[in-house]
Amino acid sequence: MELKKLIIGSVVVSPPLILAPMAGITNGPFRRVCRLGGAGSSSTEMISAKALKHGDRRTREMADFAREEHPVAAQIFGRDPEEMALAAAFLEDRGADIIDINMGCPVKKVLKSGSGVQLMREPDRASAIVSRVVRSISVPVTVKIRLGWTDDESNYIRLGKILQDEGASAVTLHPRTRTQGFSGRARWECIGHLKESLTIPVLGSGDVVDAGGVKEMFRITGCDAVMIGRGALGKPWIFRQISSDLEWTGETVDTAWCRDLMAIHISLLLEAFPGRRSVGQLRKHLAWYTKGYPNGSSFRREVNRIDDPGEIVKMAEAFLGLEGKSLSIQ
Ligand SMILES: Cc1cc2nc3c(=O)[nH]c(=O)nc-3n(C[C@H](O)[C@H](O)[C@H](O)COP(=O)(O)O)c2cc1C
Repeated sequence: MELKKLIIGSVVVSPPLILAPMAGITNGPFRRVCRLGGAGSSSTEMISAKALKHGDRRTREMADFAREEHPVAAQIFGRDPEEMALAAAFLEDRGADIIDINMGCPVKKVLKSGSGVQLMREPDRASAIVSRVVRSISVPVTVKIRLGWTDDESNYIRLGKILQDEGASAVTLHPRTRTQGFSGRARWECIGHLKESLTIPVLGSGDVVDAGGVKEMFRITGCDAVMIGRGALGKPWIFRQISSDLEWTGETVDTAWCRDLMAIHISLLLEAFPGRRSVGQLRKHLAWYTKGYPNGSSFRREVNRIDDPGEIVKMAEAFLGLEGKSLSIQ
């Protein structure tokens, strides 16, 4: 299959395989390790425009970008156009290559604040946000949406056109409704319908976990790039694996290199989350890394009992065969 680059404004994404935004997961260390693992670009977790405005320290930490992780899209959520524009300008200043606006999150807390997929029910507000953000910054603005609130209220094509008219440089569609959450099948054919209706690039997101899925999503939808979220959990090398399987590159993926990536990831987590703050992140990612390993469940049980990062790292070194990879404890 031919390799086509995705171009959004002046940003080139190659291969057109993008790490999807995932709250609590796509922090700096995971973005860096996925870029090393072959992702064409990455996305931050969703960042609250309101919290940024109030100078919340932890939220501001989400806006730290390392040189190696570019191109990176910073995703913001909120409902006030002015607040969203301020957040976008702040993130542009911090080095974000793209500002992505979240209009797809179905989580209760986000809906309560009137943002996420709620904005799909308020096209005028959605359009005001995009227009205001586009006019405030010089990097491209993209928007991530779902099919709509329910099947009866499915308005992704109408909204997509509005967003395009307001200056969005690309739209990502996760083809499920709010009611569906993450259940049921992602309706890839809808990505194709959106692609036919817009002139800007359309990115597809949902249920892609291997090269076969990437090939099929491109074939069914004609989309410009594929996002991978859950498929990258415990497998940040999935992007290079897919590029290799599709013969886009001659690079191969072997166990030694996967171990290197795991070791780098652990080191980056320890650096980004000093002391006991790393424990939650270590537990989470080690659980994904050890999925399917013989004795993996007893390892995970043990790790969940321990709250000393040094001990957890020692156990991980032994279990995953990472000895000698210099995992540094800060
Ligand atoms: C744990 C988790 C957190 C997510 N957080 C976000 C988010 O912050 N912003 C967003 O636009 N989508 C978010 N998503 C949706 C993903 O970006 C993606 O669209 C969805 O998971 C479908 O793709 P997948 O099947 O490749 O995971 C999240 C998904 C998961 C599983």
